[in-house]
Amino acid sequence: MCGIVGYVGPRQAAPILLDGLRRLEYRGYDSAGLAIQGARGIEIVRAVGKLENLTRAVEGAKLDGSSGIGHTRWATHGRPSEPNAHPHLVGDVAVVHNGIIENHLELKRELAADGATFSSDTDTEIVAHLVARARARTPSLFLAVRAALERVRGAYALAIVSGAEPGKIVVAKSASPLVIGLGDGEVLCGSDVPALLSYTRRMLFLEEGEMAELSASGVRIETLAGESVAREAKRIDWSPVQAEKDGYKHFMLKEIFEQPRAIADTLRGRISLEQAELVDGELGFDAKVAQGIERVVLLACGTSYHAALAGRYWIEQLSRVPAQAELASEVRYREPVFTKKDLVIAVSQSGETADTLAAVRSAREAGARLLAVANVLDSAIPRAADGSLYTHAGPEIGVASTKCFTAQLAALFMVAVHLGRRRGSLAEPRARELLRGLLEVPAAMRHALDRKDTVYEVARRWQHARHMLFLGRGLGFPIALEGALKLKEISYAHAEGYAAGEMKHGPIALIDEEMPVVVIAPHDAQYEKTLGNLQEVRARDGRVISVVTDGDEQAARLSEHVLEVPALPELLLPLVTVIPLQLLAYFIAELKGTDVDQPRNLAKTVTVE
Ligand code: M6R
Repeated sequence: MCGIVGYVGPRQAAPILLDGLRRLEYRGYDSAGLAIQGARGIEIVRAVGKLENLTRAVEGAKLDGSSGIGHTRWATHGRPSEPNAHPHLVGDVAVVHNGIIENHLELKRELAADGATFSSDTDTEIVAHLVARARARTPSLFLAVRAALERVRGAYALAIVSGAEPGKIVVAKSASPLVIGLGDGEVLCGSDVPALLSYTRRMLFLEEGEMAELSASGVRIETLAGESVAREAKRIDWSPVQAEKDGYKHFMLKEIFEQPRAIADTLRGRISLEQAELVDGELGFDAKVAQGIERVVLLACGTSYHAALAGRYWIEQLSRVPAQAELASEVRYREPVFTKKDLVIAVSQSGETADTLAAVRSAREAGARLLAVANVLDSAIPRAADGSLYTHAGPEIGVASTKCFTAQLAALFMVAVHLGRRRGSLAEPRARELLRGLLEVPAAMRHALDRKDTVYEVARRWQHARHMLFLGRGLGFPIALEGALKLKEISYAHAEGYAAGEMKHGPIALIDEEMPVVVIAPHDAQYEKTLGNLQEVRARDGRVISVVTDGDEQAARLSEHVLEVPALPELLLPLVTVIPLQLLAYFIAELKGTDVDQPRNLAKTVTVE
């Protein structure tokens, strides 16, 4: 998730672009850059790190021009560095991009065979090459962009300028957001409304498969197929702060609702249904290495540990390798035994958690093979690993992790399928069925999110509960732990996550009419047994809130409240059963009026012991 901006009009473009980027910094902040069109042609300034570094570089560059494009980056392909920062310039064509070009490797090979040379590791530079080549054959940048995009598969919001056509910006959209702002004798564009709000409230929203040419005199919109589009501008009345959160009250709620996109981006370009396999290369181990693995150890803390627990179930089941999930904060002080035959998977949103990094280093010293699952490109944990599978959730601002958790689940599921295929324990038809199910997750998540009002009612009923118990079996167990952690973190209510089978070994003593018990009870292999727990809670006057598969009347009869999620293949249920629990924690916290995005005593990245 990156942020792009563009400006064309009578004023100096650079300050306006910098201001727009500042408002989009929540979308990415590892590097940034501008391309200005002026009398000296196209001038590019880029800087690594926060936007203030670019601001300083721009001051020194004395840019002069009244149109241009800008970008703030959240790296997905290529580490954060100046060559990888946008805009990418090829010939006199400069490009900024938000999204992922799925077929970039294939296009890169083709362009290289035709003599192209590359100055970055990004997928975006491929677009710059394609447009520059098409521009040499076509009379306008607009037509060149259209021709180039015929070759491109994936997600993009693009803004492109050419030195040969000053005062014009071409934009295009597929699966990434793009807004056009209509000012007085000036036109702007951006990834999101906040970038434009200081200049205009009249906005045009590009739709899928559309492109537009922006100039000071107006906007021409067409489909990628060349049909012209007439669109009315809308007036946006949000405040700039509301707009940054897309109208949501908190970043956490926005991030909960971003999950379908985060999962789609994490899967994008990585799954081949035809071969029932991952389009790999990223994982750092081939079939020979996979067959030599004797144990998988997943290391993580907090929410990432819950994802690791689910990963353990999947890896054991699909690849038949012994697997264990370990709290990194414990492992590091335990004189753990790792061997060269271990695959160690470190799971960390930030990639910087001190305990996870320390545990990874002890595994490394013992010669174990290391795979990182992280959301921040080129962070410390991926750098210490042999391979990385990045989640593409975009920056997570809320301290309570939500979209990064489900993106970690999606990544770990892919690792399990990959291992199963490479070790010959997962047959092609079953792998295909599972991967097809995985691709359905974003749509299922949208349905789960649509039921937010029911969750809100449950939150209203139980907002004053001082304790809450969360129970789940099998893959429901890590989700029970995660539901309890979310509630604790942001609402400060005491909550316990338990394996439902453990209830009779202790926590059953807690149950009375004051105790809400959330039971994760979707249709899975353990369903009947989980219903048994549900009955035990009811028999002791406990208040049951059950998370069930759509239309489950049996569980509904035994529950005071029912939170329904759509049906999915059994192994994938954690990706949807967690959604009502995230919403429950959020709504309870919101009703209590706590500081949801920055709960007390917590930090987003824990870089201390
Ligand atoms: O960046 P990491 O995934 O390594 O962080 C691990 C934990 O600190 C983190 O998951 C923490 O528990 C979150 N606040 C959970 O919402």
